[in-house]
Parts: sequence; structure tokens; C-alpha cells
Amino acid sequence: MKNVRIAVIGCGVIGPLHLECFKQLDFVDIAWACDLIPERAKGAAEKFGAARWTVDAAEVFADPEVQAVSICTDHATHADLAIAALEAGKDVLCEKALAQNRMNLGRMLEAAKRHPERIFGGVFQHRFDPVNRELRAMIAEGLLGTLLTAGIQLRCFRSHAYYDADDWRGTWEYEGGSALINQAIHYIDQLLWLTGGAESAVAMIGNLTHRNVIETEDTAAAVLKLRCGALGVIEATASSHLNWESNLSFHGDQGAIDIRDDKPLKVDFRDKAVEASVKTRLDEAVAPKGAEAGKTYYGTGHLAQIADFAEAVRDRRPPFVTAESAAETLRTVFDIYDSARLGQSFR
Ligand SMILES: NC(=O)c1ccc[n+]([C@@H]2O[C@H](COP(=O)([O-])OP(=O)(O)OC[C@H]3O[C@@H](n4cnc5c(N)ncnc54)[C@H](O)[C@@H]3O)[C@@H](O)[C@H]2O)c1
Repeated sequence: MKNVRIAVIGCGVIGPLHLECFKQLDFVDIAWACDLIPERAKGAAEKFGAARWTVDAAEVFADPEVQAVSICTDHATHADLAIAALEAGKDVLCEKALAQNRMNLGRMLEAAKRHPERIFGGVFQHRFDPVNRELRAMIAEGLLGTLLTAGIQLRCFRSHAYYDADDWRGTWEYEGGSALINQAIHYIDQLLWLTGGAESAVAMIGNLTHRNVIETEDTAAAVLKLRCGALGVIEATASSHLNWESNLSFHGDQGAIDIRDDKPLKVDFRDKAVEASVKTRLDEAVAPKGAEAGKTYYGTGHLAQIADFAEAVRDRRPPFVTAESAAETLRTVFDIYDSARLGQSFR
């Protein structure tokens, strides 16, 4: 059987991690590395063994040998690239955030509807983390009792230089926001995926330490009405003295689980036998080391997600994280922004 032929579009920060992951799969050939900046495309092709490189994504879409593309460009370019890829008969994996606004998200999903034969996945690699899968199972099993609150905190640091380095960052038009849509979105996705999604949001956003640098938010707080009946609480900042710290907190009337940086921090249950079993399950799920090209907080999920996507392309089945399911989280992020702008709750 022929190998799955893949192209990666965008070879900035995250593209090389996709290439590294695809390279590890023995049933995948990397056909193209593509970036508007020739040195990036050429460098990535050489490093990860892509057959060819280009600055023009149209060349990739025109190559009949390419079965699937991985889109690793900035948020505002995702829609046009994904639509062009789907129209050209390619399967698509698109990095988060799928789009920077509702209009582009809608255009992408419309294109997907026109091409139901195509496989279309959205990156949320933390859904593959063993700890998150275990947490999801525990919540579904009702171990926490009635879920009362589910919270996420992301405290990270993004310097002025980080925003200045790329024109798209820190702009409503191209990034679509900042701390929420770019960094905290991973944990918002976990909160929603673990608990079953949100109905509405009330929120405030602020720019506390990047006022002359970005027009978007560096700090945000939101309360969600979750579909399961609990309240969701989101706190995010890119202005912290901490480089990256994530906290997830699930509190039910029978028990509570706090996770810090993907490891159990506190497990406390009314029934101590349940507590012991929860502790064992979480300890066993603590993830091993991730792929080399990524930062440690990217987790191990990229390799798992990229393997799942490539297998989905090979086996013609839906990927574990479909674009529609990634869009659900993004819609809640847009609800949060809308609420913060207009001072009311949405949906
Ligand atoms: N899942 C994760 O953990 C994770 C981590 C980092 C970034 N990301 C996401 O990945 C995407 C890219 O982020 P990044 O930090 O790598 O950005 P980046 O700016 O470092 O890289 C983007 C690259 O895309 C290229 N590009 C833009 N338009 C193009 C086009 N039409 N054709 C070819 N190349 C094009 C740019 O030249 C640039 O090299 C974003 O959506 C971001 O949110 C995800």
C-alpha cells in the first residue's frame, strides 16, 4: 500500500513540530514543506526530509500526489488555506484557533459541508493527554457527584518582543484576540471537552501590561454556564511572572480534583476508597515526555493527534478531533469576547 502523502503549510514555530511528528510515522511521506519565507520552507524540508519545498501553497494544492495538508500558519490565513485545500480534494488538519473570527469559521465549516468526503481535523492536542482522558472518564462516571464548578487558570508570560516579532499577533483583525484565543484556548478546550460544553458566557477582558504593544487582551476572566449544569470559571493572563502555569479544578459535591501543569495537585473525596482509586488512576496517566521540537507545555499530544489524523486519512474515518468539534470550543471563545465587548451574556 502507498504511504500517506502529507504537506505542511507554515514552518514557523509549530510547523516544525508537525513535521517532526509526521516524520516519526512510517506510513507517511512528507511531500512538501511550504512557507512564504523561503529559508523557513527550505530549512524545514531539509531538516525533516520533505521531498520538495515551496513558498506558494497553490503548488501544494495542485499536486495530485498530496492527500492531506497540515495548516500551521497564523490564524487569519487558516480559512482561505483550508477552503482551498478542501476544494482541491485534500484532507486538512488545521492548527488552533481554526479561525480568528466567526465569519471565517463559518466559511470553513461551509466548505467542509460541501466536501463531506474530506477528512477535516482541528488541533487540540491536549485531548490526547492520558490525564485528560482519565479525567473525562471520571467525570462521566459521576465520581465527583454533582459537578458544581470547573475552573481553568492559565498564567503565562508573553513579552513585548514576542508580540512585536510577528505582525499578526496582538491584533483583533489577524489573531482575533490574544491570551484567550491563542494560549488559554487549550485549557478552555479541556474544560469544555471534559464537562460537555458551555451554553453561555459572561466575561471581562483587559490589557494590563501590553498597552502600547497589542490592541487585544493580555488578561481575561469569564464565567460559563456549562451544559452539565455546573459553572465554569476561566482566568487567563499572558502578563504573569510565571513562564507557564496551568491549573484545572473540578469540584463536585462528592469530591474535588486539582491538576497543575498536567499533574494531580490535590485529590480529595468524601469516600476515601474512591479517593484512593482516583489517585491511582491519575498517577498512572501522568504523561511521558513530548516530541523534541515542541515546548514541554505543548504536551505529548501532538504526536498522538498527528498519528490519529494520518491514520484517519489512510483509513478514511473521521479524526478524533473533528473541525466541527474544535469549532465548538472556538465558538465559546468568541462568546467570551462578545460578552466582554458588549457587557452581556451570549447564546
Ligand atoms: N497547538 C499548539 O500547541 C500550538 C503552539 C504554537 C502555535 N500554534 C498555532 O499554530 C499556528 C501558527 O503559529 P506559529 O506560532 O507557528 O506562527 P508563526 O508566525 O511562527 O509561523 C507561521 C508561519 O506561517 C507562514 N505563512 C503565513 N501565511 C502563509 C501562507 N499563505 N503560505 C505559506 N506560509 C504561510 C509564515 O511565513 C510563518 O512562517 C497558529 O494558529 C498558532 O495558534 C499552536
